[in-house]
Amino acid sequence: MSEPVLICSTEDVPKGTAISADVDGTQIAIVHAEDDQFYAVRDECSHAAVALSEGEVEGCTLECWLHGSRFDLRTGEPTGLPATEPVPVYPVEIRDGGIYISLTPSNGVTAP
Ligand code: FES
Repeated sequence: MSEPVLICSTEDVPKGTAISADVDGTQIAIVHAEDDQFYAVRDECSHAAVALSEGEVEGCTLECWLHGSRFDLRTGEPTGLPATEPVPVYPVEIRDGGIYISLTPSNGVTAP
C-alpha cells in the first residue's frame, strides 16, 4: 500500500466536476460525484487512451467524451460500450479539507 499523497483541496473540485492531477507520473482524474463523494480513477479511457477528466460527471459515473462509455467511479467498470476494460480506481481520503490519493488501485486493475 503506498502512502496517501495530498492532491488538492476539496474546494478545488466542485460537485459534478473532475480535474486531472499528475501523481508521481500517473495521470489521475479526481472526481466530485453527484453523490457528494470524491473518487479517483486513472485519467485515461481504457478504449482509446483519452483523458476521462475532460468528460461529463453523471451520478456516480464519468463519461468518456470521445465515444461515450461511462465508467463507474466505485469499481472502474465501464457501464456501456465501446470500452470493455475497467480503469484503475484509487483510494481517496479526505483529511482537513484536503484530498489524499493512494496509488495502489483498490479494484486490482493496474494501468497497462
Ligand atoms: S475513447 Fe473512451 S470510449 Fe472510446
